Amino acid sequence: MEIKRIQNLKNQAISRILEAKTEAELENLRISFLGRKGELTQILKKIPSLPEVKRIEVGKIANEAKRAVEEAISRRSSAISLQPEKLEKEWIDVTAPGKKPPQGHFHLVTYAIREITAIFEKIGYTRVRYPEVEWDWYAFSGLNMPENHPARDEWETIYIEELRSKKYGNVVLTPHTSSGQLREMERRKPPIRMLNIAKCYRRQSDVSHAPMFYQFETLVIDKGINITHLKGTLDYFAQQYFGPDRKTRIRPFHFQFTEPSFEVDVTCIVCGGKGCKVCRGGWLELGGAGMVHPQVLKNEGIDPEKYTGFASGFGVERVLMMKYGIDDIRLLFSGDLRFLNQF
Ligand code: DAH
Repeated sequence: MEIKRIQNLKNQAISRILEAKTEAELENLRISFLGRKGELTQILKKIPSLPEVKRIEVGKIANEAKRAVEEAISRRSSAISLQPEKLEKEWIDVTAPGKKPPQGHFHLVTYAIREITAIFEKIGYTRVRYPEVEWDWYAFSGLNMPENHPARDEWETIYIEELRSKKYGNVVLTPHTSSGQLREMERRKPPIRMLNIAKCYRRQSDVSHAPMFYQFETLVIDKGINITHLKGTLDYFAQQYFGPDRKTRIRPFHFQFTEPSFEVDVTCIVCGGKGCKVCRGGWLELGGAGMVHPQVLKNEGIDPEKYTGFASGFGVERVLMMKYGIDDIRLLFSGDLRFLNQF
């Protein structure tokens, strides 16, 4: 009797499974036969209470029926997933060439900063950064430019009106990385080999000036440092950054915080120093440099009789533009992908 019922149930289940059209229908059938309260499950549950002889026989058939129903469901399930309408919707051509996801890269200025850092780290410099918002003392007075000194006019400084300290003066947006010289001398004792790369701000905007730009400042202080060390370091940087054939020259100039002071030129990247319409005479200007003024050392408690030093300050965008022949600094900050994607 039981056996007959099981056979019927199995046949009924299989024929309904074969008619199922969707995964959902199939799942409902699975629940009604094999679920916790399913018809076949109910029968299987009763088996342990049957008399022993019957138990073995019925058990075998019931388990066989369960397996057959499970198999029918899994076959039907694959058949449903291969239905033509479904296939059409989900069709993929596995042989089609892949689409490349767009890939970005760092900004040119970031690359330049990394490259400059690596060049100076090789010869023992430590990269530091100092505040973007700075006290007057570090930006000017401590660098030998007292209040109302005309040399300050060069820096087109942006002041923050509300703040003023008796000791350190006004607050400014750092106009040059030279402020890091004083901060570094406060932070540690000589010997010093500092590379300060930071954002600077000035009220300027044209093809070669942006109101926000980056500078990199070197400062070396030790016993017996002289101009030949400065010149050697400038040549080393120019050759590492621009190429092995570059040469630098230093021209006398004036800065309040260095004595003597220089402007530094590098042989033109376009003509190699012969003279062309980019450089007019073979040289391009890199930035300023000089031997640290004894008064600046004294301001930070360093004895100028014992220690000497040199410093230099160049624009990151400036050297970048020279390297790639970019003729408008504003392109670097425009966010224009047509420009940026070229690098
Ligand atoms: N801070 C100067 C500027 O922004 C550049 C400079 C000149 C830096 C001479 C130096 C230096 O370290 O020695 O124009």
